[in-house]
Amino acid sequence: NKAVLAFSGGLDTSVILKWLQDSYQCEVVTFTADIGQGEEVEPARAKAKQLGVKEIYIEDLREEFVRDFVFPMFRANTVYEGEYLLGTSIARPLIAKRQIEIAKETGADAVSHGATGKGNDQVRFELGYYALQPDIHVIAPWREWNLTSREKLLHYAEQHGIPVEMKKKSGSPYSMDANLLHISYEGRVLENPATEPEESMWRWSVSPEKAPDAPEYLDMEFKRGDAVALNGVKLSPAGLLETLNVLGGKHGIGRLDLVENRYVGMKSRGCYETPGGVILLRAHRAIESITLDREVAHLKDDLMPRYAALIYNGYWWSPERKMMQQMIDASQEKVNGWVRLKLYKGNVIVVGRDSPADSLFDSTIATFEDDAGAYDQGDAAGFIKLNALRLRIAAKRKY
Ligand code: ARG
Ligand code: SIN
Repeated sequence: NKAVLAFSGGLDTSVILKWLQDSYQCEVVTFTADIGQGEEVEPARAKAKQLGVKEIYIEDLREEFVRDFVFPMFRANTVYEGEYLLGTSIARPLIAKRQIEIAKETGADAVSHGATGKGNDQVRFELGYYALQPDIHVIAPWREWNLTSREKLLHYAEQHGIPVEMKKKSGSPYSMDANLLHISYEGRVLENPATEPEESMWRWSVSPEKAPDAPEYLDMEFKRGDAVALNGVKLSPAGLLETLNVLGGKHGIGRLDLVENRYVGMKSRGCYETPGGVILLRAHRAIESITLDREVAHLKDDLMPRYAALIYNGYWWSPERKMMQQMIDASQEKVNGWVRLKLYKGNVIVVGRDSPADSLFDSTIATFEDDAGAYDQGDAAGFIKLNALRLRIAAKRKY
């Protein structure tokens, strides 16, 4: 037997690698992906080699991540519990998919991950595995071993010749997860929801109060609901999100401090930095505001929390998510045009939008000036009268 491990090259997954080899006597295939976490992935090769791994997969999945996961999600304006832009949630289905593909390529019968038994990530990984390969064996070391503390983990590493200098890899005391969409921080002082995180925690953004005093304008162009260019420059999906992250970070945009409901039932406190995502969401809603029919837009808004919960809870590869995606994608056909934004001290302010080919905004109808008969104000009297009918009947009955 053989297992494909989602391997970051850090201390935890190195211990898992060794533990799999020892307790399952299985050959381990490592899979390390660059999804924009901002850390080199190549060093994972030497670490895996050092631990005797023969099949080592290291891949740059940044474009696929944004094009096939982040952008489809943003077409729906997806937000979980009113605030969380799902940066971690949306990366898990891609990792799961590649692990299963690699298992098929290498003849592995098992997959393994480094998520704990308390979190959402285990659910997301494993629902993905089972949806894509129903008979796969799943090994979740955190739910099985007795390395229940940091101390025990370090001791195991030392005993087995795993360099513990890895433990300070990120130099941060928090449990972090980063990709092109966000960085998340959990644990340590954040475990008390009453405590404000220290300023030094944030990696991508300045605080709004330290942001530049001058606003910065930004033009974003959309095609079929996806952002395709910034200030007239065409960019790839990953290139575009990367640029938005830099711009947003510079202007103190996209910080979030949240207590959220995990799928397993507990509340947890996390902090998030999503500078590019916050800008993109604002801009997308603005272009939809002129290109979507009212009822289509409202229906999207009604369904959005359901769609967000599907992604948060790990059901990306479910039939209901795929069905909703088809509907969302169909709604985006006319979502073309540009949006002008002003970035200023933590704010994303929409200041202009147009869609020369697809705008439903009709100024001849909406105008406060003479509309030359485009709209008959007299029609409104009957419209209101009939809508008021049941209210009037009820009022007469003192209902
Ligand atoms: N609470 C967020 C979520 O469930 C972030 C999870 C972060 N994961 C991690 N392995 N540090 O999506
Ligand atoms: C973990 O437990 O592995 C991270 C937190 C989460 O998945 O929600």
